[in-house]
Amino acid sequence: MTMTRDQIGSVRGYTIYQIGLHWLIAALVFAQLIFGESMTEAIEAAEEGEAVAGGEAFLAGMHYYFGIAILALVALRLALRLKNGAPPPPPETSGAIELAGRVSHWLFYALLVVVPITGLLGYYYGDPYGDWHTYAKPVFIGLIALHFAASLYHQFWRKDGLLMRMLKPE
Ligand code: HEM
Ligand code: HEM
Repeated sequence: MTMTRDQIGSVRGYTIYQIGLHWLIAALVFAQLIFGESMTEAIEAAEEGEAVAGGEAFLAGMHYYFGIAILALVALRLALRLKNGAPPPPPETSGAIELAGRVSHWLFYALLVVVPITGLLGYYYGDPYGDWHTYAKPVFIGLIALHFAASLYHQFWRKDGLLMRMLKPE
């Protein structure tokens, strides 16, 4: 049986595929959060029998395909994560900070799976799935804000080079 890099404790960093997927998925998620309301408006217009403006219809279509792309890319990313593992926390990271990192990263993975699925269910079956999908928006934004702040804290306060781990493959 071959051991994974995680099992032999030799994970020094993320691979180029893990890094590429991190930033590609982040860009797609930003687009979904910024333009997502077009989907809400297109659906409301359709329900009321009104015409959907061209730009709105385009953005709603984009929301659909970007969302499905995120779901597919996350499946690939989770497979790589389980196969390649993740590097250990930088030296001198306290137990509480390490736990916060682990919890928030797995919460991201959970959201990246659950949010597109509720979106698909909302698209085809309406509420309550559409409502659940909409409630996820502030949770996603809050987690991204925390994650962004944490990466800046590591980079500029702790100066432990953590941000470089998501920029430079090992
Ligand atoms: C990670 C992926 C996704 C994110 C971050 C996301 C985010 C959002 C956001 C921010 C809204 C606007 C909510 C509001 O009006 O305030 C929205 C609405 C919507 N999205 Fe997504 N979405 C994602 C994937 C999907 C997918 C795959 C579908 C499936 C087709 C989808 C279908 C919808 C629908 C139907 C609405 C309207 C919900 C309603 O008004 O009840 N989304 N989404
Ligand atoms: C929608 C946006 C984002 C999502 C969904 C996301 C998600 C994730 C996830 C799930 C991980 C854990 C990787 C793993 O160990 O398997 C991670 C790690 C990381 N993210 Fe993000 N991220 C986002 C945006 C950002 C931004 C804007 C930054 C910085 C400016 C950033 C910096 C990092 C860094 C430095 C790591 C590596 C942490 C480590 O080495 O332990 N991320 N991200």
